[in-house]
Amino acid sequence: MKLWGGRFKNAESELMEDFNSSLSFDKTLYYEDIIGSIAHVKMLVKCDIISEEDGNKIISGLDSILKDIESGSLKIEGDYEDIHSFMEVNLIERIGDAGKKMHTARSRNDQVALDMRLYSKKKAKEVVENLKDLLETIKILAEKNNYIMPGYTHMQRAQVVTFKHHMMAYFNMFSRDKKRIENAIDILDESPLGCCALAGTTYSTDREFTAKELGFKGVVNNFLDGVSDRDYIIELTSDFSMVMMHLSRLSEEIIMWSTKEFDFIQLSDEFSTGSSIMPQKKNPDAAELIRGKSGRVYGDLVSILTTMKGLPLAYNKDMQEDKEGFFDALDTVLSCIKVMNGMLSTVKIKEGSMLKAVKRGFLNATEAADYLVNKGMAFRDAHRVIGEIVIYCEDNNMPIEDLNIEQLKKFSQLFSEDIYEFIDYKNTLNKGIKKYMK
Ligand code: ARG
Repeated sequence: MKLWGGRFKNAESELMEDFNSSLSFDKTLYYEDIIGSIAHVKMLVKCDIISEEDGNKIISGLDSILKDIESGSLKIEGDYEDIHSFMEVNLIERIGDAGKKMHTARSRNDQVALDMRLYSKKKAKEVVENLKDLLETIKILAEKNNYIMPGYTHMQRAQVVTFKHHMMAYFNMFSRDKKRIENAIDILDESPLGCCALAGTTYSTDREFTAKELGFKGVVNNFLDGVSDRDYIIELTSDFSMVMMHLSRLSEEIIMWSTKEFDFIQLSDEFSTGSSIMPQKKNPDAAELIRGKSGRVYGDLVSILTTMKGLPLAYNKDMQEDKEGFFDALDTVLSCIKVMNGMLSTVKIKEGSMLKAVKRGFLNATEAADYLVNKGMAFRDAHRVIGEIVIYCEDNNMPIEDLNIEQLKKFSQLFSEDIYEFIDYKNTLNKGIKKYMK
């Protein structure tokens, strides 16, 4: 069932029909396709391009199609070329000849461009809402668990930080992601409807009217660009890739922290799984899956970038390949944000284990060197002296603060009793971080 055929003598090969059809995935756009058509038809009536009577018939026909799809009584399937053909053929079956006027002054090129912009906008807003929930959860978790913990560089214990400060680093990352997506929404917020195939139309249509009806800020100002721009899909998929990268880094930490070796956190049963063979296991599958799924979204990004590369203006059928990857990226990023949110809302943070790790890690060594500097030693010399103390402590399996003052003085006469206060872990938290502890 096609929207074209007049200029063809022979039927299309079945193989080609299957190859060409996008219905199995662009059915996702059914809602946008219908509301886009309704706005278009209202405009055709307003501009006296079709009669009000025909317009009303089309609109109630489209309304009834929408109702039937949503109630499940109309399935989006069959040998249609795409969602647009499905809608038009169904409309004509329902309301007769008036349905044949719906596509006046429109092409599937501006139609699909419109559907994709509407859908992208709606779903990107959903991602933003989910990010807001995640940000809130991170903030609550960070504030409730303002404990000291080891900070790492090269995965080696480095200096004392707080769990709050550590988590607020992720808060910042996801805040930037949210801003990036909001910005992408703002950029894409222009209606391409009315560009038609590539060069506008001979009818005097009103593009501003349809743009307003559909909630866009305005209209695109170049027809060729309007029908062939997929930048917003690339930009959003890139933003989603960034979200996935951040989720994946956090997942990696969650996986490490939940090992017996770290033992900084305990994941809830709700977001863990067991082993079919090893009864003792509690696996961080949720975090591992998020880490794994980041690869899918990067793949979706590279795929659409590659599809668009080298395409001449204006519409080319290659662009039909924009959908599956984008839908996949959207579904993936949405489910990963939700699962991360669930994991973080139910995780238990182990204050004692983190403190133990702080004590075993010589995390006050930098501050001990600063102490000697305050007493007049050059930093490089202080660095060497403390390094020697660390070797001594390692050999004797003790932290720096357990050395008595006589032992310390063997390394430098500059040590006196006030060293213990200076290298106490709560005090070694740098002033900068302390500001964020409140
Ligand atoms: N299914 C097509 C797509 O997704 C719709 C546009 C078709 N346009 C055309 N001139 N054949 O891109």
